Amino acid sequence: MTITSIGIIGAGTMGNGIAQVAASAGYDVLLLDVNDAALEKGLAALSNSLDRLIKKEVMNVEQKSQTLARIKTTTHYADLAQVSLVIEAATENQAIKESILQQVDQVVSKDAIIASNTSSISITHLGSRNSRPERFIGIHFFNPPPLMALIEVIMGKQTSPETLKAVLAMATRMGKEPITVQSSPGFVVNRILLPMINEAFFVLHEGIASPEDIDTGMKLGCNHPIGPLALADLIGLDTCLAIMEVYHKEFKDDKYRPSPYLIDLVAKGHLGRKTGRGVYAYDKK
Ligand code: CAA
Repeated sequence: MTITSIGIIGAGTMGNGIAQVAASAGYDVLLLDVNDAALEKGLAALSNSLDRLIKKEVMNVEQKSQTLARIKTTTHYADLAQVSLVIEAATENQAIKESILQQVDQVVSKDAIIASNTSSISITHLGSRNSRPERFIGIHFFNPPPLMALIEVIMGKQTSPETLKAVLAMATRMGKEPITVQSSPGFVVNRILLPMINEAFFVLHEGIASPEDIDTGMKLGCNHPIGPLALADLIGLDTCLAIMEVYHKEFKDDKYRPSPYLIDLVAKGHLGRKTGRGVYAYDKK
C-alpha cells in the first residue's frame, strides 16, 4: 500500500494548506470543491502562503512553480478515481462530512485509502459508514498546515495496520512528525487544547481581564506562541464552537459546555480571521 497521489476535498483554510504540504513533498494533488470560485480562492491563498515561505527563504521561486504544477483542481467527484488517497477537509459538520465521504466511497479505486481531517468526530463512526472501513483513517493536520510540524494519525476500531503504515510513511515524507492516536472525540491535541480556549472565553466573559491581557498572560506565563483568544481567531470561532459541542454531546459532561460568549460571537458571524473579525478585528484583504 503506497500513496502516490492525493485528492483533497475542500479548498478552504485546511484543504488548501494540506494541498500545499502534499504538493511541496512531491505528491500529485487533486483539489476538489463545489465550484470554481472556491477553488480559485483556495489556490490564491496557497500561492500567497508559498510567497511567504519564499520571503522567509524556506523555498525559492522555482520550487514554488514546481509545487503549483503538481496541483490540479476539479469539481467532479468522479475524477478522484485516479488518486491513491483522499483526504476530506470540509467544514466541521458531521452531516456534511458523511455526505461527502459517501460520494467519495462510490468513486475511488478499490485500493485507495480514505481519510478525514476532522478535528473532533469519531473516526470509527465515519469509517463504519464506508464500504472498506479497514482503509479508512483520520489524518489531522494543524492550522496553518504548512507551518505546523504535527500530524495526528487516528485509528478507527476497524482501521488496518497496513493503512496506518502507509499514512505514517506519507506523513514522514511530508516532513511532518506523526503521532498515532485511538479514535475518541478530539483525539489528543484538541481534547486538551479546546477546553483551554473555551475557558479563555469564560475568563473574558466574566470581565477578569481584557483579551490582550489574557493572551499576554498565556504567552508570557506559559510560553505559548500566541494566546488562546488569538488562536481561536486563527482556528475559526465556528470550528471551536463545533468542537466543544461535539465534546458536550459525546462525553455528556458539563465541563465541556461552550462559553456563552463564544456562542454569541459565532451567532454574530464574528468567526475570526477568515471573516475579518472575531475576538480581535483584522484588516480584510
Ligand atoms: N502559510 C499560512 N499561514 C501563514 C504562513 C504561511 N506560509 N506564514 C505565516 N502564516 C500565518 C498566520 O496566520 C499569521 O497571519 P498574518 O501575518 O496574516 O497576520 C502569520 O502566520 C504570522 O506570521 P509570522 O511570519 O509573523 O509568524 P511565524 O511564522 O513566526 O508564526 C505560527 C506563525 C507558526 C502560525 C505561530 O503564530 C504559531 O505557532 N501559532 C500557533 C498555531 C497553533 O497553535 N496552531 C494549532 C491550532 S489547533 C488546530 O489547528 C487543530 C484544530 O483542529 C482546530
